[in-house]
Amino acid sequence: MHNTILITGGTGYIGSHTAVELMLQGHRVVIMDNLCNSSAQVLGRLRQLCGDRFDFVQADVRNAAALDAVFTSYPIDGVIHFAGLKAVGESVAQPLRYFDNNLGSTTALLLAMAKAGVHRLVFSSSATVYGDPDQVPITEQARLQVTSPYGRTKLVCEEILRDLMAAGAHWQIAILRYFNPVGAHPSGLIGEAPNGVPNNLMPYIAQVAVGQREYLSIFGQDYPTPDGTGVRDYIHVVDLAQGHLAALDYLAREGQSITVNLGTGRGISVREMMETFSRVNHVHIAHRYTDRRPGDVAACWADTTLARERLGWQAQLGVERMCEDTWRWQSRNPRGYSDSA
Ligand code: NAD
Ligand code: WQD
Repeated sequence: MHNTILITGGTGYIGSHTAVELMLQGHRVVIMDNLCNSSAQVLGRLRQLCGDRFDFVQADVRNAAALDAVFTSYPIDGVIHFAGLKAVGESVAQPLRYFDNNLGSTTALLLAMAKAGVHRLVFSSSATVYGDPDQVPITEQARLQVTSPYGRTKLVCEEILRDLMAAGAHWQIAILRYFNPVGAHPSGLIGEAPNGVPNNLMPYIAQVAVGQREYLSIFGQDYPTPDGTGVRDYIHVVDLAQGHLAALDYLAREGQSITVNLGTGRGISVREMMETFSRVNHVHIAHRYTDRRPGDVAACWADTTLARERLGWQAQLGVERMCEDTWRWQSRNPRGYSDSA
């Protein structure tokens, strides 16, 4: 069945890829974004990929009147809530901004949904809610603990959603805990375009490869991991996007809520990622080993059993595709969306 899905934060990195997958499956999409961390150029790219199966509303999700207007103008069947600020370091420096934006947008959205009688929600959470895990792979039952204001916003939003689930069976909520999203759409038309110096590994590697950064700093080579560098569960953004469709299907089919990890279940080290990028794309990645980055954990990867069993979803794309697709995007759009007309 074809639905109309509201995507908050839909011009952002994961939201834009999810919009494409939804539209390719025949759904209509309404994107609401204030463009605080994304470009309006994304809209042209989405049109190139999917035609006119979407509408765009430029507004802040904390704006109740704008939300109400969306719910009265469109027959929204479900919502995917990506909108939020996501930089861990920035959240330490500006905690109030993070609480205001991430908690404020979530409560405003939930109020508008309740008012409109829309109770189906997919929420972008993060493996950051597991903090420094006691063991890997990490199951959904692992202890929750956060180490940054950003992480706290995700944990508090999760708790708000659990209170809603407890209050009424009519809420159908999927809390998706993403591990490390990387890669880009295979068309090379949309991808990750961070502002300023990237915080995350993959965009940093890509910017070194394209000549925008001199070298990659590898944060630590003395972790208790096979090659001494940090290990993470990198997941291709197209797989991740498809996980959202699987979650929406689950909510429609089962009529009940779920909290689930979205990862590949495989850990990749910083060195392995850098070497794979270099090998498959035939580019040199200049690099230096530096001190550990404060707050980093040694290793973090997902137990993906629940996603497989309950959502019938598992990641298909491996580390080579993550590197190839990132490079197609980065080499064709060296400065992200700012190059495009
Ligand atoms: P992104 O910054 O590319 O996208 C977020 C979008 O939300 C941006 O387009 C931004 O303009 C918009 N936005 C932010 N606050 C808004 C507001 N108040 N009103 C309207 N629009 C607003 O980030 P992303 O990587 O696509 O992440 C999407 C979601 O997934 C976020 O909630 C993030 O915390 C979560 N997440 C991301 C990662 C990751 O590594 N990328 C990992 C785990 C979880
Ligand atoms: C990955 C690995 C670094 C950059 C973050 C957030 C998390 C989630 C995903 C939102 C680590 C190493 C990195 C560099 C490096 N986001 N690294 N040189 O820290 O696992 O997770 O993004 O929810 O909440 O914390 O991802 O990409 O920053 O780092 O050596 O220039 O790469 O030390 O081992 P992280 P990352």
